[in-house]
Amino acid sequence: MTTTSTTSRLAGLRDRTVAERRRLIAENTGVELARLDVLEPVSGLQVEQANHLIENVIGVMSLPVGVATNFTINGRDVLVPMATEEASVVAAASNAARIARVRGGFTTSSTAPLMQAQVQVLDVVDPEAARARLLEAADEILRLANDQDPLLIRLGGGARELLVRLVRSQVQTYVVAHLVVDVRDAMGANAVNTMAEAVASRVGEIAGGRPLLRILTNKADLRVTRARAVFDAESLGGPEIVDNLVHAAALAEADPYRAATHNKGIMNGITAVVLATGNDTRAVEAGAHSHAVGPDGRYTSLSHYEKDADGDLVGVLELPMPVGLVGGATKAHPVARAALAILGVTTAQQLADVIVATGLAQNLAAMRALATEGIQRGHMSLHARNIAVTAGASGDEVDKVVARLISDRAIRSEHAEMVLAELRAAQ
Ligand code: MEV
Repeated sequence: MTTTSTTSRLAGLRDRTVAERRRLIAENTGVELARLDVLEPVSGLQVEQANHLIENVIGVMSLPVGVATNFTINGRDVLVPMATEEASVVAAASNAARIARVRGGFTTSSTAPLMQAQVQVLDVVDPEAARARLLEAADEILRLANDQDPLLIRLGGGARELLVRLVRSQVQTYVVAHLVVDVRDAMGANAVNTMAEAVASRVGEIAGGRPLLRILTNKADLRVTRARAVFDAESLGGPEIVDNLVHAAALAEADPYRAATHNKGIMNGITAVVLATGNDTRAVEAGAHSHAVGPDGRYTSLSHYEKDADGDLVGVLELPMPVGLVGGATKAHPVARAALAILGVTTAQQLADVIVATGLAQNLAAMRALATEGIQRGHMSLHARNIAVTAGASGDEVDKVVARLISDRAIRSEHAEMVLAELRAAQ
């Protein structure tokens, strides 16, 4: 990570104009202000650029990009760009990060960036022996795979290991070879798919069967990142709330119905950062959901919480994080490039650290809201704020209009316009 970011503690950011916020982000990250111009829809992703990203392009769709504040990750302050259409997500992540920073913020650890590709082999008469033959030929197969990507090898990556599994289906037992590849700073799909296609016929020959599917697995369980944070009991609202949060997390661990919603909350944070940085949201989501199924085959929560010896709440989140800094939209999308500049990350690993820390913050914030006042009040006041600003309120008018919209239980634009007119007439 670059060292330019001075602080992520930008109190009152929400009360600034968009232009002021950009200036503050630029000042606090060392990113040139002009680089953030791409966040202006007219200068963001152009139709011509979009036309090179996918097929049959007819236009672009914009989403709000917000910046979550207060994050300290592995001892460094970082401002986190998030692309999401959902109100409260950015504010909630910032709130939880503020609580986490009391005890030093988030710390992370990761495996090497190992992606896997599968080669399925059909019609093998002696699957156990085929497995042994393939493992005996591992060096040859890995060499063949590595011949496909000299650049990856130069960067220190490449195919590292061959694993062979026997998958018993209702139709037959398939021999499934896994190429384990260190993809360095790439998401890695292209690299491993190319390798899998290149080795498939040799794998089929050695196994004595017909190769069929050759594709990466999104269950990227050899490429995981863990984030941990201690959430200060007092900042959370006291020991009773800590106990309630432990109960909230326990329900998610025990009950798949709650786990699905709990994990959705985690993904609110994760997907928003993955999207803002131009990475593949579906790959990360597929990896996350497959990781939520434990060895016993039961779907459960991705995060775990305990009370520590000081009575504070400790949260841990682990999931596969197949994201990259090279290739695809991360390079081609101007907003993704600006988001990566704001983050100041220089490796895919650092990006993964930020994403998983954001997921943990988002999760804690949702649980805390649910275990206290519920989520609707926060949602409603943010919604009221949007309506007030859209009606033309500015400066200290915003809070006054918001208060009236909530007390009148009428969070509607025509009501906001009326309240604003009344306020201005009374001055
Ligand atoms: C809403 O988008 C996410 C939550 O439902 C997550 C949760 O229930 O933990 C609030």
